[in-house]
Amino acid sequence: MMYAAIMGYGTIGSGVAQILTECKDKIAHSAGQEISLKYVLDLREFPDSPVGDRIVHDFHVIESDAQIKLVVESMGGLNPAYSFVKACLNAGKHVITSNKALVEAHGTELMQIAREKKVNFLFEASVGGGIPIIRTMYRCLMGEEIQEITGILNGTTNFILTKMDKEGAAFEDVLKEAQKLGYAEQDPSADVEGHDTCRKIAILTAMATGREVHYEDIHTEGITKITDVDFKYARKMGTSIKLLGTARIYQDKVLAMVAPVMIDNSNPLFGVQGVYNGILVRSRMLGETMYYGSGAGKLPTASAVVADLIEAVQQDQEPVFAGWTNERQSVEECGKFQYRYFVRMEGDAEQKKEQIQQIFGNTDTIVLDGADEFAVLTVKLSEEEFIKRAVCLDGELQKAGEKGILQMIRAELP
Ligand code: HSE
Repeated sequence: MMYAAIMGYGTIGSGVAQILTECKDKIAHSAGQEISLKYVLDLREFPDSPVGDRIVHDFHVIESDAQIKLVVESMGGLNPAYSFVKACLNAGKHVITSNKALVEAHGTELMQIAREKKVNFLFEASVGGGIPIIRTMYRCLMGEEIQEITGILNGTTNFILTKMDKEGAAFEDVLKEAQKLGYAEQDPSADVEGHDTCRKIAILTAMATGREVHYEDIHTEGITKITDVDFKYARKMGTSIKLLGTARIYQDKVLAMVAPVMIDNSNPLFGVQGVYNGILVRSRMLGETMYYGSGAGKLPTASAVVADLIEAVQQDQEPVFAGWTNERQSVEECGKFQYRYFVRMEGDAEQKKEQIQQIFGNTDTIVLDGADEFAVLTVKLSEEEFIKRAVCLDGELQKAGEKGILQMIRAELP
């Protein structure tokens, strides 16, 4: 029998406790011994919950109990998660976390301590909720050279964008629904402004390169500027808009970005709807593989935590090294990315045809019935080149007394 503690009895922590109880025999069979939940650390009391008798409020109870070999950190945030996790690793306990902010900010140091103390530090649930992507990278793809990772990595924003697309729903209403369903972060701006996706693509990129990636180095845009009008065009074009985290890795260089991107059904991520996440990995020998599943929510995320717990028990004597070193991966300016660009502006498409052609060359034009605006889709351009030309068009439109470019969305379209 191996004893475990859970720190944080919120959505994920309570899910882990539930699975440990409901799937006790299956887990014991896989782990080779029973995992017994001894403590649940939380500031609150839960008198009516099945773990009510195991609630503790003092972290030192867990830290100082030599019987506790497994600790789940599901508190979220950096404080006090960081100091608690560090103390547990230093005390020779295996730590499993679902906290991507922690892994992104302090993962390098925590991995180093875990190596020194010969314990496991595992974080499968920090990316893609229940999707086994981290283990896939350090086990199944361990002999591969990963060249690209593109993912829909945030369930909340994908849930919102899907509802806006399929039901014409308003952004705020859908966000509230996502919060109620337990998908959103404590501060949902981390979801809608793209920071959550950014942390996850930074973790995946670090897994791929073996070097630490700073999420601040990744250009990040969220979905707050995407409107119902954009989706009207998207539907007419047979496309949809998804928040993508992308990393392209070549000769030790990394090009990475988080932004809403217009894609069509030739892209395997097109069918990833609702709270689901999808991660497309292109590697040198295997080519493209895609990983798909529930990217957020109580039991899916807790399922990934439990798998890590089992692996920690299995690898008790021979810890797994899942992670990266303290060498910093440089991330290139995102101006080198190449996309087509969807651009909306006021007025009449026919009247502006020549002006647009002079700036962007040949474009496709999309007109919405009855609208006093239209959109064009440029040819593929580097981001650097597009910005130069867009600034020029925007200036000309404003000089003519118009609002300028109303919207720009990157497009990954054939
Ligand atoms: N807020 C996150 C999401 C939770 O919506 O994907 C899982 O990391």
